[in-house]
Amino acid sequence: MVHFEEDVGKAVKFLAILPGFMKRVAGRKATVIDKRVQQCLDYLRPAIDDRMATMTRFGKNWADKPACYFGGAWVIDEVVARNQGPEEVARIVLFINFGAISTTSAAILQALYDISVRPELANTLREEVEAAVAEEGWTKVAINKMRKFDSFLRECERHNGPIINALSMFRNILQPVTLSDGKFLPKGTTVVTPTFATHFDEGNYPNAALFDPLRSYKSDKAVQPQLTTTSADYVTPGRFFVSNELKAMLAYIVANYDVKPEYEDVRPENLRTRSLTNNPSDIARVLFRRRQVD
Ligand code: HEM
Repeated sequence: MVHFEEDVGKAVKFLAILPGFMKRVAGRKATVIDKRVQQCLDYLRPAIDDRMATMTRFGKNWADKPACYFGGAWVIDEVVARNQGPEEVARIVLFINFGAISTTSAAILQALYDISVRPELANTLREEVEAAVAEEGWTKVAINKMRKFDSFLRECERHNGPIINALSMFRNILQPVTLSDGKFLPKGTTVVTPTFATHFDEGNYPNAALFDPLRSYKSDKAVQPQLTTTSADYVTPGRFFVSNELKAMLAYIVANYDVKPEYEDVRPENLRTRSLTNNPSDIARVLFRRRQVD
């Protein structure tokens, strides 16, 4: 999975310099993507064959059918409906994980950097995690009770938004369209969301440059805006899966480890590039020490 991500990155750079008519052929011949699909199949084929055989035998909705994106109703059902085979399943799994791995890793890294320079925040979050876990165990209900944690992660996304970048949600206009305010967008226009401009607008967030981990926890809105609550002033993808995944991993880390930055009080700088990307430092270190509990 990880090699596939690296390969796609390299392929993008290579294909970008080729003229359009060569891209399709070169994409197949000059990259190792097909090889990665085969390698992925080495692992997945037994599971795919098993699910497909079960579907043939018991129909689409058998008892105990798993509800996951791979084996459940999502990928394999779709591939079977299109009369495609295991290769396509592997291709889709690689594609989805391509979107899932680097983004989630970046989000975790950003949050770790932010916790590592704020020991008092780590204590606050730890208290919340321990109280929620004492009541509910390591469950989704406990995660839902971690409101300060949610607020902290929302602030991480607002400030550093991994893969959100200065611009996000690119859309190409396929047919000419006139918006409700009369603005005309001709075919071929690219429309984007100005993420940083929105997230650092003082009208949206007073003292916007300040990283305030409990900003939304302290919000005077009737319902605390969540990491998953998207709005005109919070333009991140808002995926529930990611929210739970990030909270589970980071909650476990704060509950079990003390973390500190490699250089005291220094929060590693983000890597911003000319293509407007914003990534966490990939050379900084965070030091972990297992917590001493009496
Ligand atoms: C912090 C973690 C993540 C971030 C920051 C992130 C960010 C994004 C962004 C900015 C988009 C484009 C949205 C748009 O243009 O409308 C996107 C699309 C997508 N993401 Fe994520 N993502 C994350 C995690 C994940 C995970 C864990 C998965 C899968 C398990 C995933 C699967 C997808 C898919 C399939 C799309 C394409 C959706 C479509 O075209 O309709 N993402 N993501």
